[in-house]
This record gives sequence, C-alpha cells and structure tokens, in this order.
Amino acid sequence: MTGATAAQTVSGALAAAAARLRAAGCDSPRLDAELLLAEVMGTDRARLVVDARSELAPTQAAAFEALVARREGREPVAYILGRKGFRHLELAVDPRVLIPRPDTEVLVEVGLALPRGTRVVEIGTGSGAVALSLKHERPDLHVTATEVDAGALEVARANAARLGLDVEFRQADLLDGAGGPFEALLANIPYVAPGDYARLAPEIADHEPRLAVVAEEEGLALLRRLASQLDGTPFVALEVGLAQEDVVAELLAAAGYATETRRDLAGIERVVIGRR
Ligand SMILES: C[S@@+](CC[C@H](N)C(=O)[O-])C[C@H]1O[C@@H](n2cnc3c(N)ncnc32)[C@H](O)[C@@H]1O
Repeated sequence: MTGATAAQTVSGALAAAAARLRAAGCDSPRLDAELLLAEVMGTDRARLVVDARSELAPTQAAAFEALVARREGREPVAYILGRKGFRHLELAVDPRVLIPRPDTEVLVEVGLALPRGTRVVEIGTGSGAVALSLKHERPDLHVTATEVDAGALEVARANAARLGLDVEFRQADLLDGAGGPFEALLANIPYVAPGDYARLAPEIADHEPRLAVVAEEEGLALLRRLASQLDGTPFVALEVGLAQEDVVAELLAAAGYATETRRDLAGIERVVIGRR
C-alpha cells in the first residue's frame, strides 16, 4: 500500500464538505462549501458547476480541508474569507468587527433620504458598513463615524482607505468625543440582553465581539445613554432589537422627539426615527 488517496473531484469534495457542515449544524452547508471551495480555487461558484468533474490538486484539497474544518467549528464564512458584501460594497471583516447584517440596510435607507449636504454621524461603526455605504451612495453627505473600540476603528479606516471614501473617523464613547454638532445621527449600537447572548448561534456567541452585540439593562443600556446625550440633534435613527421599538420611541419622545418606526424585510420594527 502506498497510502495515496484518490484525487477528489469538485462535485465530490463539495458533497462531502456539505455533509460535514450539515452535521456540524451550519444553516447553509452547501452554499458555505461552495464559497470556501471557490475561494481555494480562485474562482466563483458558477464556475464550480462547470468544473464539477475536475480534480482538485493536492494543495487545493489540503487548503479546502483547512477551511472546512474552521467552518465546522462554526466560524462564520465572512471571517474565514475576510470579507462581506454589504449593499454595493465589499468590506474587509475580521473578529474585531461585527459582520454587517442585511437588517441594517433599513438604517442606511433612512440615511439615504436625508437632505443634501447633511452633517451626519454614525455611532458604533464597526466595519464601517453604514457610514461607508452612505458616503458611497450619497457623496454630498458629510459623514463622521465613531467607534469605541480601537481595533474595530482600524478595520473601518482601512475599508475607507481601500474604497477611497471620505469619512471622518473618531474614537469616541457614544457622543462623548464624537465632535459635531451634527444634523443627523444614525446608530446600530449593541442591543442584545446579556441573558440572550449565550443562546445565540455559535457563529455569534463564540466568534463575534461581545462588545459589538451585548448591552446591559435588557439590551437597552447604551440606547438609554445615547438618548440622554442627544442635546438637540434634529434627526435621529436608531436600530433596535425585537420588541424594543416602544421603549426606544419613549426614550426619544422624552427627549422631545416626534417618533416613527421602520420595518425590515422580515416585518420586524427595526429602526426608530426621531425628529425635532
Ligand atoms: C452592533 S455593532 C454595529 C457595527 C456596524 N455599525 C454595523 O451596523 O455593522 C455595534 C458597534 O458599536 C460599538 N460600540 C459598542 N459600545 C460603544 C460605545 N459606547 N460607543 C461607541 N461605539 C460602541 C461596537 O464596538 C460595535 O462596533
């Protein structure tokens, strides 16, 4: 016996990897396997279909095995690939930042409707997804983005530089150190209650930064503190978690704002807007 194993075809490698990822509890095992193999082969998913019977070189097989093993450990695909698409941008992401979610597009859409030339601040920018999308789609806006975490700020700054987008970044604790004054404020800051955190999927609980996800006081501590700092900013839009819209609307109403809410594609009230 030589110990040599038969070369794997693309279709065979995908089927075996998808079965392993399914057994590991991944939500979209076939898609994940395709994304990882396309990365290893330097191609796209459509090409994998055309090349279904091609054989993987031993180095490709070894590289694919390493990526599949990481995904089996429930590491998010976006961290494994080091990138995530959000609206029209491809953002670099790593475990210092939350992976941007489609839900957050609602917040961006609210920002896109602001009047020409508005001075807008995004609080808690993470990868820069919201601030950079706004600047990309509305170059007339003056966009400042803040972040409390130095590592996350490095990721956002690098994304802005690579994409050539002129956003001012500041390390700040909510509005403390953010500069201003601003005419509009957008924020997707942590709103998950500590007790809910451990029940989240391992992709989040074991891999994404706790600082980006969890807030004390049933998830409302940071939103309460931000509402208390607002100091007359005429327009505010805050992303909220499931069933938090009423209490957040009350916070804004107590600060003198007329409020309304916007739903995401799943029909969940996702953004509370305040105007004064
Ligand atoms: C839910 S993530 C959102 C990231 C990004 N805006 C997005 O939508 O993908 C929240 C971000 O707020 C940051 N953050 C947490 N506490 C903060 C604070 N006190 N001041 C500013 N940013 C904070 C976290 O580090 C994290 O990057």
